[in-house]
Amino acid sequence: MFPNIFLAISALVASVTGAVLDPRNGYPGPHHGDPRLVYQFANGTMLENIAIRSNGNLLVTLTDRPELYEVNPFIPKTAKLVHRFPGYLGLLGITEVSPDVFTLNAGNFSITTGPAAGSWAVWQVAFHKDQPKVFKVVDIPGALSLNGMTTLASTPNTILAADSTAGVIYSVNTRTGSYKVVLDDETFKPAADAEIPIGINGIRYFDHYVYYTNSFKPFFGRVRVNKAGYATGSYEAIATDVVGDDFAVTPHAAYIAGNPTNVVTKVNLSTGKGEVIAGNLNSSLVAGDTSVAFGRTKKDKHVLYVVTVGGSLSPVNGTFSEGGKIVALDI
Ligand SMILES: *[C@@H]1O[C@H](CO)[C@@H](O)[C@H](O)[C@H]1NC(C)=O
Ligand SMILES: *[C@@H]1O[C@H](CO)[C@@H](O)[C@H](O)[C@H]1NC(C)=O
Ligand SMILES: *[C@@H]1O[C@H](CO)[C@@H](O)[C@H](O)[C@H]1NC(C)=O
Ligand SMILES: *[C@@H]1O[C@H](CO)[C@@H](O)[C@H](O)[C@H]1NC(C)=O
Ligand SMILES: *[C@@H]1O[C@H](CO)[C@@H](O)[C@H](O)[C@H]1NC(C)=O
Repeated sequence: MFPNIFLAISALVASVTGAVLDPRNGYPGPHHGDPRLVYQFANGTMLENIAIRSNGNLLVTLTDRPELYEVNPFIPKTAKLVHRFPGYLGLLGITEVSPDVFTLNAGNFSITTGPAAGSWAVWQVAFHKDQPKVFKVVDIPGALSLNGMTTLASTPNTILAADSTAGVIYSVNTRTGSYKVVLDDETFKPAADAEIPIGINGIRYFDHYVYYTNSFKPFFGRVRVNKAGYATGSYEAIATDVVGDDFAVTPHAAYIAGNPTNVVTKVNLSTGKGEVIAGNLNSSLVAGDTSVAFGRTKKDKHVLYVVTVGGSLSPVNGTFSEGGKIVALDI
């Protein structure tokens, strides 16, 4: 990869902020609002995950280079580099651990060589007014491939980080840096026929449960946990027909990014039934979507922000790829 070239290009990238995408392109209407392109990065940019600040700004992590960006979804053409994390190839899961304090997974993952064991660490970005203070929480040398991250909201200063290759979940105290494996299950392990050794991918803690995807099985499930993050119930399958990357959970449904399937699927948590709400296999609307998050302000709490790799890992119908982008879907 050529991170410096991408860095230079991304500063100049022409973004069509505010453009209305064609709803016929795999998006059911007309009861939904039009999907809107919030920001598009240069070709080659791969967005991996998204978290939302309380002021409404979007924080997005990149895997093609170790950079964290902040995007104001209401102001056209604003993508600000928050921080570049030298010494890593990319950034993955991100979560708000306490008000306006975010943690993220950094490490070495490349398409050609896969994840590099021993390269993984958890970092913290704390916003004071608008100045980010960045420091390392802890190296996790035993991790093989840290991916999804979520806040264990029942316990202060505690996040959970999924190791996709080992198929386990760590809990990390972000104040002391102490960490341990708290969850480990067969449903977390990479599928025998997985193209890359990635099992458990997205994780979200919601109302005493940890929800998770295993991309290649495919599997979307959950497990009830205690305050320390240990399982207190069985690992339950919710849906086994949805290819899932990262996702958002609400009390009644999960909204799951489908990465190579180029769709966002809404899964009903009581029935396990999935409904595609945006995109299709041959559509570029949310091509290579890796994660989603709901807006946090009055103006956009019904907006689902979708981030993508633009089909660069798996081109749409074998031919089309574009720069990673952020798309707003009105749910
Ligand atoms: C990540 O890979 C780069 C380039 O190969 C290397 O210089 C760096 O030391 C690695 N970082 C870690 C944390 O292993
Ligand atoms: C889930 O499915 C049930 C039964 O069909 C339905 O009553 C409910 O409204 C659905 N929930 C959501 C969030 O779609
Ligand atoms: C996608 O395109 C391929 C050919 O490129 C075609 O075989 C397939 O039916 C299409 N699928 C959808 C869902 O449109
Ligand atoms: C392939 O994808 C492109 C981009 O979304 C689309 O314009 C084209 O119609 C697709 N081709 C097929 C055969 O579906
Ligand atoms: C993005 O880059 C790929 C690979 O170089 C190329 O095939 C594709 O046409 C480019 N897409 C756009 C929209 O420029």
